[in-house]
Amino acid sequence: MEVFQRRREKLAHFIKGSAMVLTHYPKAWRNHDVDHPFRQDSSIYYLSGYEEAESIFIFRPGHSPESVLFVQPKDEVAEMWEGRRLGPEKAKELYQVDACYPITELEDHLSELLLPVDKVYYEFHKNPEFDKLLLQALEDGRRSRGRTGLGIPPILDAKEMIGEMRLYKDAEEIEVMATAARISAEAHREAMKFVSPGVNERQVCAVLEFVFKMRGADRIGYNPIVATGDNATVLHYNSNNQECKEFDLLLIDSGCEYRYYTADITRTFPVSGTFTSAQKDFYDAVLNAQKAVLEVCKPGTLFKDLHEISKKHLSQSIHDLGLIKESADTILNEELYKKYFPHGTGHWLGLDVHDVGAYLVDGESRPLEENMYFTVEPGLYVPQDDSTAPEQFRGMGVRIEDNILITSDGYKNLTETVPKEVKEIEDLMQQESLLTKI
Ligand code: GLY
Ligand code: MN
Ligand code: MN
Repeated sequence: MEVFQRRREKLAHFIKGSAMVLTHYPKAWRNHDVDHPFRQDSSIYYLSGYEEAESIFIFRPGHSPESVLFVQPKDEVAEMWEGRRLGPEKAKELYQVDACYPITELEDHLSELLLPVDKVYYEFHKNPEFDKLLLQALEDGRRSRGRTGLGIPPILDAKEMIGEMRLYKDAEEIEVMATAARISAEAHREAMKFVSPGVNERQVCAVLEFVFKMRGADRIGYNPIVATGDNATVLHYNSNNQECKEFDLLLIDSGCEYRYYTADITRTFPVSGTFTSAQKDFYDAVLNAQKAVLEVCKPGTLFKDLHEISKKHLSQSIHDLGLIKESADTILNEELYKKYFPHGTGHWLGLDVHDVGAYLVDGESRPLEENMYFTVEPGLYVPQDDSTAPEQFRGMGVRIEDNILITSDGYKNLTETVPKEVKEIEDLMQQESLLTKI
């Protein structure tokens, strides 16, 4: 609770006199009478630690009560069917907020809570039903003042404000992120040992999730991509149900979520355990680009420079591999590389896999600073039916993704224990996985 309180104190400096209103997501996880697992909204968790469904958190620094939580009321029948609830009294005590009400009483309090604030920080479109309630409460507040000629307070994007805080990870976050990374790395190593010709992508998914859960992760951080052969050229492939063939590569993009923080790791390796010569050339092109990007990961480097470097390296490789005949400069300057490297080089990482935080400051790319955490993930993808590419590279997709924490004078790669050198991968794949015995 100390950690959550400290975060609220920090936020208070930025938004004194205003209110931040954070909503839960609507009950989208209930689908055709099936309850999908619930996960708390990242920012509600970040500021309060509260984990139950259907909550609203209102933070009004400089006003009293300052922190207000709306929670599910106690309800014997609902609790018997859907799970236990703390209820307002216990939640107030446990989460150390100034006031806690049942969410069924939201409309009785909302207008009053928003009446004295200068500005409202809120994220529209997350919970459309609440969007309407909020606007109505502000309008009711305006009317309640009588004829003042004044309007409702300005509404600013909460995501941008909280993103500015969540971008710089604190010591507690770094510890949890490191655990998420360590567990995810172990799962990738286990998957490398497990894979051999004939296994199915879904079995590899099971190995990943088995290790995640056995090591204490709460859930998967995002749907894994386990893509064999030319499935790897589909960037968001999620069928995960095909057989791994002997001479194909396998791309795995997967990370667990541990205490709300996710890792996001990609590795690509040969199903057989040994890279063919063409696979090695193609793979090393991506590996070299990734290493070049890592070299400049330190305070002061502009975020956009990470992408500049991978574009430059991959454009040269696209030329050298004969994928495009033009010069490396032309491939880069005319953006021809986008045919084979269509995505960015990385993104902020944390409570969400594509975490909040602005990439631009005053219209310019943001310089990296200590305690920022992001992915570095260049890739190359050649569709199977690309008749202009050399035949040996058709149907190949390679991405290599690590999770990087900026330190005072450089970076720490929290996912470095998953091998990525050709020789290291081949050596690890020689080891037998206990899970093949199942
Ligand atoms: N796994 C999602 C991403 O790499 O961005
Ligand atoms: Mn990523
Ligand atoms: Mn990823």
